[in-house]
Amino acid sequence: MRKPIIAIDGPVGSGKTTVARGVAARLGYTHIDSGAMYRAVAWETLRRGIDAGDEAAVTRIAREMTLRFERDAEGRQRLFVDGEDASDAIRTPEVSRVASIVSAYPGVREAMVAQQRALGAEGGVVMEGRDIGTVVFPDAEVKIYLDASPEERARRRTEELRQRGVAAAFEEVLRDLRERDERDRQRAHSPLRPAPDAVRIDTTHLTVEQVIDRIVALARERGA
Ligand code: DC
Repeated sequence: MRKPIIAIDGPVGSGKTTVARGVAARLGYTHIDSGAMYRAVAWETLRRGIDAGDEAAVTRIAREMTLRFERDAEGRQRLFVDGEDASDAIRTPEVSRVASIVSAYPGVREAMVAQQRALGAEGGVVMEGRDIGTVVFPDAEVKIYLDASPEERARRRTEELRQRGVAAAFEEVLRDLRERDERDRQRAHSPLRPAPDAVRIDTTHLTVEQVIDRIVALARERGA
């Protein structure tokens, strides 16, 4: 019998990555950040000087590129694109912007979803994204939808960028985040929305530990 799958979806800055990493560590599961895959497509698009609006060319990139996840000594996910470690390069505001555009293309999503399903096939994974509970693993044992106020999410994102040495103004991050949210929610293909059976958690006034505790408790109830 395969181990449970924990799907964590939500908008930018809802705490998905920190929480998913923490839940995976507590359960001894593998953490997979599906957003990194869409970022990799964006990064490759930029690197090759291809127009992000050229759907056919971008889709070809998504189908042809080889993505490989590895863990570093701290158990953190690193992502290799065609053999090159792109883990840091995919975290720039420019890649965020382009990822938001290219992730709306059905062909891109198809290619990424196939790889996400393969990565999670044996269970024992905590996968975070926008459509994990709705499209990638509609039968996941645990489905979580994280949210927080836009201001709180922008505050977190600004802080995160600052810690990585990227100067960012709060107002700009907030505007950017609203734009990306809008695109993620409005796109025709696999829009961001909670699965009907997802447990919704508003993280605005919760600590990371409180959120992790809740999800781990739920996972234990469901066989983890
Ligand atoms: O979570 P993130 O910001 O790293 O995601 C990057 C982009 O990819 C973002 O615009 C949303 C999109 N994405 C998606 O469409 N589906 C997913 N499962 C994960 C991310």
